Amino acid sequence: MLIELKRMEELESEQLIVEGYKTYIVPSYRKIRLVVDRGEGAYLWDIKGKRYLDFTGGIAVNLLGHAHPAVREALARQSEKMIHCSNLFYHPQALQLARKIVSHVGPGKVFFSNSGAEANECLFKVARRYGQKTGRFEILSFENSFHGRTLAGISATGQPKVKKDFGPLCPGFRTIPKGEPKDFIDSLSDKTIALIVEPIQGESGIHVFSPGYLKEIRRICRDKDILFFIDEIQSGLWRTGRFLAWQSLVEEDSQGQTFLPDGVSLAKGLGGGFPIGASWVAERYSEVLDQGSHGSTFGGSPLACHVALSVLEEIEKKEWGKHILEVGNYLVRSLKEFENKPQSLLKEIRGIGGILGLELTLPSYEAVEVLMEKGLLVAPANTNTIRLLPPLNVSFEQAEEARVILEKFLIS
Ligand SMILES: Cc1ncc(COP(=O)(O)O)c(C=O)c1O
Repeated sequence: MLIELKRMEELESEQLIVEGYKTYIVPSYRKIRLVVDRGEGAYLWDIKGKRYLDFTGGIAVNLLGHAHPAVREALARQSEKMIHCSNLFYHPQALQLARKIVSHVGPGKVFFSNSGAEANECLFKVARRYGQKTGRFEILSFENSFHGRTLAGISATGQPKVKKDFGPLCPGFRTIPKGEPKDFIDSLSDKTIALIVEPIQGESGIHVFSPGYLKEIRRICRDKDILFFIDEIQSGLWRTGRFLAWQSLVEEDSQGQTFLPDGVSLAKGLGGGFPIGASWVAERYSEVLDQGSHGSTFGGSPLACHVALSVLEEIEKKEWGKHILEVGNYLVRSLKEFENKPQSLLKEIRGIGGILGLELTLPSYEAVEVLMEKGLLVAPANTNTIRLLPPLNVSFEQAEEARVILEKFLIS
């Protein structure tokens, strides 16, 4: 008994956990010194009992906040029936979720996986397969993009620091600069088969593509039979008010057909914290991956699909998309006043609704630690941008609490 108690105490010591990580965990993450204990809604507690307002949202994952009843109940309900079965068999949960995604994106089919990198990998494979008959294989992405940490993911990612010392990378990926549509045409080669775009670049600091540019490059891709993929892993799932960020950015005709991409990748928030990735593929290309050409052991399990469907239904029912857009607009309006003011640390605020970036005059990790001390958790992006990625159901009172902390910090 005594020994057990001692172990409990040891496990709960912040110092021991931090030291233990050094011994047992591969040190691939730059970490922030906070040992988490539990969460509820937009709040998170550390093991010392201190409460924080969590505007990292698990980096755009916890759409309904921590321990939401809809997520907990879906997990419990489905785990009593079945957690996993192989993709040899059919189950209604995958069908229900695929239908829901198709209803929000457009005519097409869905492949399920477990993460964002895998959701993109599926799109890359669609492109490579489709390109076989014309001998085209090259996949383009933009500078400052982020598309995952697998070898194909880092090959597609437009940030040198992510690729550093991992060569040789996957052949057939090329990063191009953002510019004018005519520069885009010039950057194509006779081997180009696909382009992948984050409509709001997340990891590199919340950079929003202009709707006009997006529409033009989409049109050019269609004219040249180049697949146009949208990576909505961080920006999607109502963070900008609509199901996908491109739907918020680009005015659509009633059918949504003019802009409709050829593939969309989703992950992060889809399971509200439970791992799941999904790749939507437009009707025209939806059978390029035919029998035996792609797969995933865990992809689209009954548990993951049921939880994801419950998350999406809860957001629809409560209209959290509309809500987060209002909350985000309020924060942007308030914080804009501090942009480029003499004593202010804020250079620029960017983004929409629940995906905001504050570019600062100091390093992002330094800002994260100061704000943490003040009880607000935010996510670092590039060297000097912090991200606000609150749950979609964050209340106006909680947003106000965050605003007060941020304002004091910006003029400190
Ligand atoms: C836009 C984007 N694509 C892909 C990924 C990779 O997702 P995952 O970490 O689930 O593999 C991320 C993760 O941050 C992302 O933000």
